[in-house]
Amino acid sequence: MDRVALVTGASSGIGKACAARLHAGAWKVVGASRHGTSAGGCQGIIMDVDDDSSVAAGMATVLRDHGRIDAVVTCAGYGLAGAVEMTPISIAKQQLETNFWGTARVLQAALPALRASQDGRAVLMSSIGGLIGIPFQAYYSASKFALEGFAEALAYEVSPLGVRITLVEPGNVLTEFTERRQTLGNERPDDPYTRFAQKALGRMERDERNGIQPERVAAMVERVLSDRHPPRRISVGKLGERVGLPAKRLLPDRLFAWAARSSLGV
Ligand SMILES: NC(=O)c1ccc[n+]([C@@H]2O[C@H](COP(=O)([O-])OP(=O)(O)OC[C@H]3O[C@@H](n4cnc5c(N)ncnc54)[C@H](OP(=O)(O)O)[C@@H]3O)[C@@H](O)[C@H]2O)c1
Repeated sequence: MDRVALVTGASSGIGKACAARLHAGAWKVVGASRHGTSAGGCQGIIMDVDDDSSVAAGMATVLRDHGRIDAVVTCAGYGLAGAVEMTPISIAKQQLETNFWGTARVLQAALPALRASQDGRAVLMSSIGGLIGIPFQAYYSASKFALEGFAEALAYEVSPLGVRITLVEPGNVLTEFTERRQTLGNERPDDPYTRFAQKALGRMERDERNGIQPERVAAMVERVLSDRHPPRRISVGKLGERVGLPAKRLLPDRLFAWAARSSLGV
């Protein structure tokens, strides 16, 4: 029997590449987003991860059409840039609504099916920015740090029930993420951050445009899904970016912050 995977954020970038790759491989794929998708020829459904009833309806469609869900790959998300002080809390909350609560909502709805699968898998698209705070994208980092803690805790709960959880932590990836980022700034003439924020964001955008192709992340996701003992976390990206992760673990905070400044554009 074909194993069934639900991929969120499948209309673009990493999610689209994951849906196409899994569909071309051993998986029956349903790709979800607010605009639907037919990535790689997979079945598409409309699902807004911000909305309880949309997620419930999407899940019901997958179960009606396929009778099972063996894997969920959560890629729905977007970026928000702006100084903490200058970002209205309502806009910051929206960032967490999609990137964190959206993932939690989809997982909660999928867990009964993942448990029933007896080899259920969840792959959560985190980020290197979920382990290293990114200046002028603090709320984005907060959404991914939240995801990291959530997934780590969840794994203890569900592994005895046969569900494996993996966090994939990409570095810079060339997708529509960069153009779609919601960027705040210049709204207030007295904003003391503008110059610094523009520099840091300019650096980040340049690195994203020189980032790896989303297909590399998709290949990693496929590997994780077929691994009998999938890792809790795995990073994917250029070596120069990934090296930041062990460096953060090993170095004292002040030394790490000093070493990271130039690559973070501050
Ligand atoms: N690109 C990078 O450098 C990078 C690095 C690390 C981590 N990531 C993470 O990877 C994930 C995918 O990003 P990407 O680079 O592939 O960006 P992308 O090309 O902009 O794709 C984002 C996807 O999320 C979907 N989406 C956004 N809000 C949604 C919502 N409320 N409900 C359902 N779907 C929603 C979009 O589809 P619709 O608009 O059709 O709904 C789209 O399919 C994100 O979580 C991002 O944080 C990206």
